[in-house]
Amino acid sequence: MECPWKKPWVVLMGAIALIQLYGSINSHGCFTEEKRSLLEFKAAYSNDSLLPSWMDGPNNNCCDWERVTCHPSSGRVIHLSLYALYKLGSLPDDNGEYDCDGSPTLNGTMFLSFRELRTLNLSYNCFGEFISKPGTL
Ligand SMILES: *[C@@H]1O[C@H](CO)[C@@H](O)[C@H](O)[C@H]1NC(C)=O
Repeated sequence: MECPWKKPWVVLMGAIALIQLYGSINSHGCFTEEKRSLLEFKAAYSNDSLLPSWMDGPNNNCCDWERVTCHPSSGRVIHLSLYALYKLGSLPDDNGEYDCDGSPTLNGTMFLSFRELRTLNLSYNCFGEFISKPGTL
């Protein structure tokens, strides 16, 4: 049988289908810059076992990720529930102290891409040896 990929129109139709798929993903949410910021947060503070659904890929809609809520019509992120995601986080010791030694500082600019963000929960994380508890941020 002849290889279908030798036919230019098969390749062209495949390319058009991919472009349409990509366009529909963007119109239903998950803006590229918001996805990039979420993955930046994960790389800096968290890991695959704490955020298993946060995976990159052209077909991956970040509005479907855990702890992320997008506006149903604009498709922009409106709620982020990022509590207790520090990858080196540990339970508090007997004195109720958390070990935040060596934790990365919070790069606040990564949240600038979320134009419609309404709530952001960063409690129980370590940002530059600072533990954020509910009520302090
Ligand atoms: C991810 O972080 C959690 C919380 O500190 C930890 O228990 C877990 O072992 C980490 N997983 C990986 C794959 O590093």
